[in-house]
Amino acid sequence: MKLLQATSLTKKFQNKIAVDNINLTINKGDFVVFLGPNGAGKSTTINMLTGIIQPTSGQIEFDEKTTINREYRNKIGVVFQSSVLDANLSVKDNIMTRAKMYNKPTQIQLLINKFNLESIWKQKYGSLSGGQRRRVDIARALVNNPELLFLDEPSTGLDIQTRTAIWDVLNQLRHDTGLTIILTTHYLEEAQTADYVYIIDQGKIIAEDTVSKLQKQYTKNILTLYYQNGESKELTVNDKNQAIKILSDNSQAISDFEYRPGTMNDVFMNLTGKEIR
Ligand SMILES: Nc1ncnc2c1ncn2[C@@H]1O[C@H](COP(=O)(O)OP(=O)(O)OP(=O)(O)O)[C@@H](O)[C@H]1O
Ligand SMILES: [Mg+2]
Repeated sequence: MKLLQATSLTKKFQNKIAVDNINLTINKGDFVVFLGPNGAGKSTTINMLTGIIQPTSGQIEFDEKTTINREYRNKIGVVFQSSVLDANLSVKDNIMTRAKMYNKPTQIQLLINKFNLESIWKQKYGSLSGGQRRRVDIARALVNNPELLFLDEPSTGLDIQTRTAIWDVLNQLRHDTGLTIILTTHYLEEAQTADYVYIIDQGKIIAEDTVSKLQKQYTKNILTLYYQNGESKELTVNDKNQAIKILSDNSQAISDFEYRPGTMNDVFMNLTGKEIR
């Protein structure tokens, strides 16, 4: 079921086109990733979708509401690339101030438990570590029980344990509440688990599809042969039959092999001729 639709969305800053005529369809319950390098236009897109800035042209519709509608704001949660929380207030005050803005805020204790905020609840936001801040940012974005959560590079700079812990909570929420998530990221592993990916470069969507279809369309499978003599060779192959043929032809000479589909990095590389980071 369609939740959000953006049509011919464009944003110009003076004479620079940051977002160039993009179309998006976000389905309910999906985990959607905007993947693109620095300056691609990801944050500008998120800022338009969340009503922070107005598009130069184009439409955004969510449940037949537009971004300037208060009802629209009530249905979304946003974690911005740079935090908007007050550094001088405690975690508690930041969250409670937010909760007071809504008629039906979520049960705060549940957020505290989910994001493990008990031990930092009274601490000033400005004195938290990067990973602790991100946990608070996300908890704050969920205060109004949003249907759609925007996450603009939430994991940049976080260690793998913190990233995993955050994703455990978000995946649990998706499972329990059907939460829809739009995420921007440079982390290809995060894009790998998406239901749908928009690849954005220089303000344009250069490809969009499910991960498996993108991989199928824009990459080949990679077969690495490890020879008895210690050498190795990487081959691109079309399908498993070709791989099996190569393996059986070389079965005497090789000691081991590796077979993997192309990754999202290969997809990006093949589309743009450059690495994503
Ligand atoms: N307020 C603004 N005024 C002028 N130019 C802007 C403004 N905001 C963004 N831009 C430009 O628009 C382009 C897209 O920026 P945006 O922040 O959307 O990229 P991004 O994909 O989020 O990049 P990053 O991964 O670095 O966060 C950039 O060239 C940026 O300089
Ligand atoms: Mg950005």
